[in-house]
Amino acid sequence: MAGFTPGELGWPGTWTDRAGRDRTPSVPGHELSGVVTELGYGTTGLTVGQRVFGLADWTRDGSLAEYTAVEARNLAPLPAGIDHTVAAALPISGLTAWQGLFDHAHLKTGQTALIHGAAGGVGSIAVQLAHELGARVIGTGRAGDRETALGLGADAFVDLQADRLEDAGEVDVAFDVIGGEVLQRTAPLVRAGGTLVTIIGPPKVRPADGRAIFFVVEPDRFRLADLADRVRSGRLKPIVGAVRPLAEVPSTFAPDHRVPGKTIIRIAQGW
Ligand SMILES: NC(=O)c1ccc[n+]([C@@H]2O[C@H](COP(=O)([O-])OP(=O)(O)OC[C@H]3O[C@@H](n4cnc5c(N)ncnc54)[C@H](OP(=O)(O)O)[C@@H]3O)[C@@H](O)[C@H]2O)c1
Repeated sequence: MAGFTPGELGWPGTWTDRAGRDRTPSVPGHELSGVVTELGYGTTGLTVGQRVFGLADWTRDGSLAEYTAVEARNLAPLPAGIDHTVAAALPISGLTAWQGLFDHAHLKTGQTALIHGAAGGVGSIAVQLAHELGARVIGTGRAGDRETALGLGADAFVDLQADRLEDAGEVDVAFDVIGGEVLQRTAPLVRAGGTLVTIIGPPKVRPADGRAIFFVVEPDRFRLADLADRVRSGRLKPIVGAVRPLAEVPSTFAPDHRVPGKTIIRIAQGW
């Protein structure tokens, strides 16, 4: 099973290697869950036949293919009981949510976190992680996302089209996954000493007395194992939307192809 990010055809690393050289034709997709079929010389810690999931390199051929070459350090064991479909939805969204909330914003129990796009890939995981930590969570999104966000553990929800974001009040951490005008309106809500984290691009705004951070998710096999453990024990639920066959990949990348939840690509029948 493989996951992809709708916007990745616009990333430079999709078309060039680390040295900036053209690497077309390239295979997109960076999330995968499957079985080890072969080990590179000297690889330790994995065995042929083992169930694994993880994150493929940004600047090499990716996961929308029958076989993917991945550095062993970017793969984590997949516990029995977690479906490959669910595991393929976890690497980017899960690691991004964790790194944003905890590595960059240092969210603490009892603090308030504003999480944009709370029913989306990253936001839905961030809401669950922040809620489990014991933070007060305000989710945002479209009107139809309200029930999903509240069901995941958000204490309150702001409909970005109908409600006033400013009414959310002051927050310790704001997690932006939308950018633009939403990001601009969010910066003033961050209280002194707080952090605005965005995953869209280097921010042009910052809280008056706080930090503004942009980051790109990094592979982390130990955190992946932790996230898988949370899924296995029912504490974390990635939202899987459509599951499509490999042959339908071109249409799933189309900008008008919006379905709720993460679209997962079924590489081989019978999985
Ligand atoms: N820097 C990094 O490391 C990193 C990592 C992961 C993702 N990203 C980027 O972060 C973004 C979000 O990723 P994702 O996987 O969470 O995407 P996603 O699953 O599409 O989630 C985004 C959510 O925000 C909602 N939303 C977007 N614009 C909105 C608006 N103007 N008003 C209300 N709701 C709005 C979307 O609703 P609709 O679907 O209805 O529009 C969706 O529920 C993408 O651009 C992705 O490329 C960056």
